Amino acid sequence: MSGAARRDGPARLEVKDALVTFGGVKAVDGASLEAEPGTIVGLIGPNGSGKTTMLDVISGIVALRAGSVLLDGDSLVEYLPEERIGLGLVRSFQDCRLFPELQVEEVLLLTQDARRPVGLLSSTLQLPWARRSEREKRSEVDRIIEAFGIGRFRHLRIAELSTGTRRVVDLAAIVLAQPRLLLLDEPTAGIAQREAEAFVPLLRRLHEVADTTIVLVEHDVPLVFELCTRVVMMEAGRVVSVGTPEEVAADPRALAAYLGASEEALAVSGALPSPSRGAVVGGAPGGA
Ligand SMILES: Nc1ncnc2c1ncn2[C@@H]1O[C@H](COP(=O)(O)OP(=O)(O)OP(=O)(O)O)[C@@H](O)[C@H]1O
Ligand SMILES: [Mg+2]
Repeated sequence: MSGAARRDGPARLEVKDALVTFGGVKAVDGASLEAEPGTIVGLIGPNGSGKTTMLDVISGIVALRAGSVLLDGDSLVEYLPEERIGLGLVRSFQDCRLFPELQVEEVLLLTQDARRPVGLLSSTLQLPWARRSEREKRSEVDRIIEAFGIGRFRHLRIAELSTGTRRVVDLAAIVLAQPRLLLLDEPTAGIAQREAEAFVPLLRRLHEVADTTIVLVEHDVPLVFELCTRVVMMEAGRVVSVGTPEEVAADPRALAAYLGASEEALAVSGALPSPSRGAVVGGAPGGA
């Protein structure tokens, strides 16, 4: 197995002065981002601000024109995306969309095989130790199914699940992949508000069980503020605000970036002051 270079425990991530261009567009324009081991860092910003491209840079599917990506201080620039997975860098699996006809349990078992390529071969050969490892795999899948409360979906096919439940199965599969650094791009996009609310405890559970560093891209700003220890806000490829949720929430530049983009979406998300307090944007009335 290729686990030699892989360390244990949550990883430390540093992206330094990243520059990515598509034709004439600077999708990421000198942006930096740090995530301390075991933290959840929220990456927010209006549409087209470069959030997904930042994740692409970290997972290696987009090349840097300048800057660097470091995992535990080691440069990842030379690593292919599949080699980065081997180092424990996992990206969300996009609703298990690849396996619509498989049952939930089968998908979770398959995720384990992906993690340990040897397992697939040895179970084909039916070696005694392979059977033992099959039992171990099942018991770990049982544990995860219980931790995420998806027992009643166990024998349903992925195609039969609601979007929200598919996301939960996706998160369960992520835990089985044993990430050291997890990249999540809008895990609540397209699911019902009620299901989205359930994501805060769910992502906390994921964070605990998987013992990993997380970079979370989300348009649901209140969710990000609730979950994350640190928030990075991008606009037009640049980082315009960084800090604790409280600091970013109080940063006029962050508010301005959102106001420039999608006032409506933010009002809906609850991240903007109500219209009666809208004057704050222009500069704190009654601030003494
Ligand atoms: N493959 C690509 N080819 C050309 N332009 C791209 C490509 N990917 C992204 N872009 C452009 O780069 C910029 C940043 O896009 P990106 O998808 O990173 O934004 P985002 O912050 O994730 O937006 P959203 O919130 O809508 O998901 C946008 O202007 C986008 O049009
Ligand atoms: Mg995006």
